[in-house]
Amino acid sequence: MSQQFDVVVIGAGPGGYIAAIRAAQLGLSTACIDAFKGADGKPALGGTCLNVGCIPSKALLQSSENYHALTHDFAAHGITVKGSQFDAAAMIARKDGIVSKLTTGVAFLFKKNKVASLHGVGRLLGRQQEKWQIEVRNGDAVELVEAGHVIVATGSRPRPLAGFDVDNDTVLDNAGALALTAVPKRLGVIGAGVIGLEMGSVWKRLGSEVTILEAAPTFLGAADAQLAKEAFKTLTRDSGLDIRLGVKLGALKRGRDLAIGYEQDGKAETLKVDKLIVAVGRVPNTEGLGADAAGLKLDERGFVMVDEFCHTSLPNVWAIGDVVRGPMLAHKASEEGVAVAERIAGQKPHLDFNSIPWVIYTSPEIAWVGKTEEQLKAAGVEYRKGSSSFAPNGRALGLGQAQGNVKVLADAKTDRILGVHVIGPMASELIAEAVLAMEFKASSEDVARTVHAHPSLSEVLHEAALAVDKRALHG
Ligand code: FAD
Ligand code: NAI
Repeated sequence: MSQQFDVVVIGAGPGGYIAAIRAAQLGLSTACIDAFKGADGKPALGGTCLNVGCIPSKALLQSSENYHALTHDFAAHGITVKGSQFDAAAMIARKDGIVSKLTTGVAFLFKKNKVASLHGVGRLLGRQQEKWQIEVRNGDAVELVEAGHVIVATGSRPRPLAGFDVDNDTVLDNAGALALTAVPKRLGVIGAGVIGLEMGSVWKRLGSEVTILEAAPTFLGAADAQLAKEAFKTLTRDSGLDIRLGVKLGALKRGRDLAIGYEQDGKAETLKVDKLIVAVGRVPNTEGLGADAAGLKLDERGFVMVDEFCHTSLPNVWAIGDVVRGPMLAHKASEEGVAVAERIAGQKPHLDFNSIPWVIYTSPEIAWVGKTEEQLKAAGVEYRKGSSSFAPNGRALGLGQAQGNVKVLADAKTDRILGVHVIGPMASELIAEAVLAMEFKASSEDVARTVHAHPSLSEVLHEAALAVDKRALHG
């Protein structure tokens, strides 16, 4: 007799584990199947985000930022340290400790909320008498479970690049890039996307020469063009990343070093490095899921097809997170998970895709929410804009990070905020105010009339909102 549940979630990343907890909170009997194993070969919950994504990358970004501050910035504060050393293996061990704390935390939350945690690959078998049958395969051990509703949250994996096979020794994907225990002298990165910039920043701050080869002729195409231009200037000039745009990759030769042939402006070039990170996007994970046999429709790029409510082509089968359309972001996956669990429980939640924030954790950080100027122009929306710089901000000066700016875009007629774009210290935290303002459909005047603590970085957003109406006080 197979175990029976109201809801079975396949995948325990930030989409799946949150969906499972929310479903259990709402009184639905819930199981979550996950196949991920950590470097020690043991099951580890939390998916890409906790194990080899958001969390470990931010741990390394912080360690490398501390080291960079010690070696470059502390002297200006009157602090000199003699005989300082850096130990990459200790940095990686700290990161592993944070990962393990959080992945075991998910196991604790499952127990607390009475979510049954099943380890193995989940496969949809079919549906009989309104119940879905799902196989859970762990090596040779096979278990069957049944559920009224299934939530597919199987996430994504790195997009392979022909001729650049990852061995996680010299040619690395995100997992390999997060596990290097020595600083490579020369590091190459393919793809100036989010992973390329974040991982490139980590190893650059620790002393690697970092060269990033990017196929697109423009930098950060999804970002507001002015923000992207500013980011390119800062990351190349101040952070020292060598970013080469409009590159056509040739062959990779593996010898004593890695030689990457490429063309730029019609000129043949070769980049020689000791390690190479390949970060050219991610593809949805539907391997082993039994999508074809079950009749689960995928789009031409392999994503599970869903409507605006995350319902798939099959009755009572839902899909969320990286395996469906939309940005591949942990918070997007989690909010879809909450919404689907609530829909199954008969509620009517709403998720506004227009107010999902983006953050790139470089130095300075880059963050935005809502529309870019280019999107507003293309849609023929009339808008007003206000910008303000971190340069005169007292808190930013105290931090020694007085670079960057905030831009607020507001509807020309209604003054409703349509987009906010930040490059500067703690942009990841500052963007939360903009997201909340947009969720509440605030006007730029609402933010301009809100009291902001002094001295704080948030005063720059305040000034930018004031600047929309040409009444900035420090600009
Ligand atoms: P995943 O986290 O990928 O989890 C899916 C889980 O399902 C995995 O455990 C997988 O093993 C399992 N699975 C797959 N198929 C099956 C099956 N058939 N049966 C059982 N289990 C299965 N996003 C942010 O918002 N902020 C960041 O700072 C950030 N940093 C990142 C840094 C890196 C290096 C990377 C790679 C990604 C980063 N992301 C970040 C993206 C974020 O990790 C993903 O958007 C997020 O993890 C997606 O969540 P998910 O639940 O959809 O899938
Ligand atoms: P990405 O889509 O951000 O960037 C990939 C880059 O590779 C693009 O600029 C693309 O033009 C380039 N590229 C593609 N093919 C190429 C080729 N043949 N040669 C050279 N360049 C090529 O993907 P990335 O960096 O792999 O990250 C995947 C996803 O993970 C991101 O889109 C994001 O959703 C998520 N992520 C989010 C983070 C965050 O929120 N801070 C951090 C890291 C990842």
